[in-house]
Amino acid sequence: MDVPYKEQLIRKNEKIKTYLRVFKDAEISEIVPADDKHFYRNKMEFTFGGDSAAPLLGQHYKGSFHRIENLTRCFLFDERIGEILKRVRKFARDFELPPYNPKNHEGLLRHLKVRVSKTTGEVMVVLITSRNFDKKDEFVEVFSEFPYVKSIFHGINSRLSDVADCDELFLLKGNPYLTEKLGNIYFLVSPESFFQPNTFMSRRMYDAAREMINPEGKEYVLDLYSGSGGIGVYIAREVKFLYSIELDSVSVDILKKNLELNKIKNAEVLCGDVRKILPLVKRREFDIAFVDPPRSGMSKKAIRRVVERKIKKLIFFSCKIETAIPNLIEFEKYGFRVTKAVPFDMFPHTPYAETVFLLER
Ligand SMILES: C[S@@+](CC[C@H](N)C(=O)[O-])C[C@H]1O[C@@H](n2cnc3c(N)ncnc32)[C@H](O)[C@@H]1O
Repeated sequence: MDVPYKEQLIRKNEKIKTYLRVFKDAEISEIVPADDKHFYRNKMEFTFGGDSAAPLLGQHYKGSFHRIENLTRCFLFDERIGEILKRVRKFARDFELPPYNPKNHEGLLRHLKVRVSKTTGEVMVVLITSRNFDKKDEFVEVFSEFPYVKSIFHGINSRLSDVADCDELFLLKGNPYLTEKLGNIYFLVSPESFFQPNTFMSRRMYDAAREMINPEGKEYVLDLYSGSGGIGVYIAREVKFLYSIELDSVSVDILKKNLELNKIKNAEVLCGDVRKILPLVKRREFDIAFVDPPRSGMSKKAIRRVVERKIKKLIFFSCKIETAIPNLIEFEKYGFRVTKAVPFDMFPHTPYAETVFLLER
């Protein structure tokens, strides 16, 4: 945040152009600046620390799970989060609930996961503890002071690993989902489903992808690594048929609900690893494939499964340029050419950018 925004964009453009030098014929756009420079994230995970007398709640330092910065504000997430964190700290102190200690695995309070719908302003909170506890009604009561908190969950994570996932999740009060709206499409968001972390910029990115494919209504489309719907659901009404493949069953469940909610019937959802599931899809020819792998990128085997299909245009979404380049080079070995790249500043004040690539045979 100490780098002026214009300078951040210059640095990101330089980095992307340097990485993309290998694709000599590709048209590379300047990075699309973020609509919101602050308060753009729709999801955040805060960690408890300290002790029952003086509980801390904020973010842990890189590489140190027990060193917590006791946040009073967060410029990346939501202006209202400071007051929630303060009140939840008071709740922990009032009932002497011990924060979890990742060194000896003792204690109760692990994480507070918070999601916000940037479309409606509604907030979901998930308190994650190491075991069950009996102050759940009192926890719910905390949020009577915050009417914009519409969904309150309790999750249990008894595992040793310090990720904010849960073995079990219970809805304590309110709605099981938040709703986001991109254009005229609704997306449900549950505590653990995948949704792009920057709502407004993901819409810009999906619009850029739509422009690259220019659908006419007769296209057969593959959406690989589809999350809870993403670009596939966003453009489903404008194409002939959509096949979505996603590994995480929680996201698949929400994806199916998103199709229903938007009355989209021309779609099939398959749950599993792209590498194993794609060979089970009977159709061999596709007009478009969207490919949006996780940060680690795709394995060569997964790429081989994709190129076995006859695909006219492939749109590759990347949130990490370092892993995208070897994947794109691999696609080029099978006769694809990277013809366009449009970077988006999805994450101001971080070194990261999201890039949409068009590959054509
Ligand atoms: C970057 S997200 C893409 C989400 C979606 N395209 C969107 O725009 O919202 C990557 C997704 O890939 C899924 N995933 C990871 N490995 C996978 C695999 N081997 N096969 C299928 N999906 C996978 C993750 O669960 C995650 O939802």
